[in-house]
Amino acid sequence: FHNPFIESVRPLIELIDSLRLIGIDEDIGLPSIAVVGDQSSGKSSVLEALSGIALPRGSGIVTRCPLELKLRKLKKGRWSGTISYGDHSETFHDPLKVDYLVREAQNKLAGNTVGICNELITLEIFSPEVCDLTLIDLPGITRVPVHGQPADIGEQIKSLILSFISKSATINLVVVPCNIDIATTEALRMAQEVDPEGHRTLAILTKPDLIDRGAETDVLNVVQGKVIPLSKGYIIVRCRGQSDINEKISLDKAMQNEITFFRNHRYFSFLLNEGKASTQCLADKLTKELVDHIKKSLPYLTEQIQTRLLNVQRELKNYEQGPPMEEEMMGPFLSSITMAFCDLVHELSRTGHSKQGN
Ligand code: GDP
Ligand code: NA
Ligand code: MG
Repeated sequence: FHNPFIESVRPLIELIDSLRLIGIDEDIGLPSIAVVGDQSSGKSSVLEALSGIALPRGSGIVTRCPLELKLRKLKKGRWSGTISYGDHSETFHDPLKVDYLVREAQNKLAGNTVGICNELITLEIFSPEVCDLTLIDLPGITRVPVHGQPADIGEQIKSLILSFISKSATINLVVVPCNIDIATTEALRMAQEVDPEGHRTLAILTKPDLIDRGAETDVLNVVQGKVIPLSKGYIIVRCRGQSDINEKISLDKAMQNEITFFRNHRYFSFLLNEGKASTQCLADKLTKELVDHIKKSLPYLTEQIQTRLLNVQRELKNYEQGPPMEEEMMGPFLSSITMAFCDLVHELSRTGHSKQGN
């Protein structure tokens, strides 16, 4: 699977790795990426397209616990996944088991039906193909409780979502289907509440293939920021629909289909060139966000490197000239050190302390 996001963000992560190698271990981790939106708006589908990891998706309440998807790059070795929740932890080697194991985890934590739970499921994927990134899949916002859900389910889910999207080191992807009215989207309101300037909020419009006839220009106005302006703007993507899943369309193929869809679209084709349509554009845009994040931490890194340099220079001074490079100078050098040492010992035995500190 060719993954545009992983490919474009990889050099960035290699840069961070090399900074770590020279001892810069301060907080230059990348922000996590979280999704927020109504139930079935396409959150899990967007994360799946970005990560290449097939997550549980479908109509109705599928994501019922927060899922932290940690992609971890292996230098070499084979794909492995570790799913952890409560005191349970399990390692597996078949990517196709992700869906089943996440569903099983949700059933154990939140019951077999429609329950929602605050407990975090952590899924770590180790592979040479990925790079170090953390994506967070969240349950969707619901308004009306379905049978078997507590009356305040809406509030419970909202506070769960808020606990993730309010973190300043998180980029929030607000996922809104094209076929609903964006002005009434609670997810957008919540994202704006925790990030009023919109520095870390990106809106994703999904399901462009399901727009009612005649509503295309309305959607176009939304994408162009004419309805609700956002500082980071909008991107429109087409992910795998239920029939694509039933027909076992691969992620690769789905991405090709997506490009064909936009290229042939009467109203949206020009958005491809403007960088406002397709998963590839979303990947590029997210990478840019991550680069900006690193740029912001650069002045601090420079400061850190300078302090370190000063300390090393000071330490170097203590060693004075050090041993000579020429072999024939070694004898005189060693005897002068030995003599200096003897002087120290004499001084110490005479006075009980040495002039030279330690
Ligand atoms: P979530 O509840 O927000 O995580 O939404 P899911 O990712 O589970 O998606 C809900 C349903 O919408 C699934 O059946 C997806 O296959 C489908 N879906 C997601 N994106 C698209 C899209 O762009 N077009 C179509 N036709 N279906 C989509
Ligand atoms: Na769903
Ligand atoms: Mg979901």
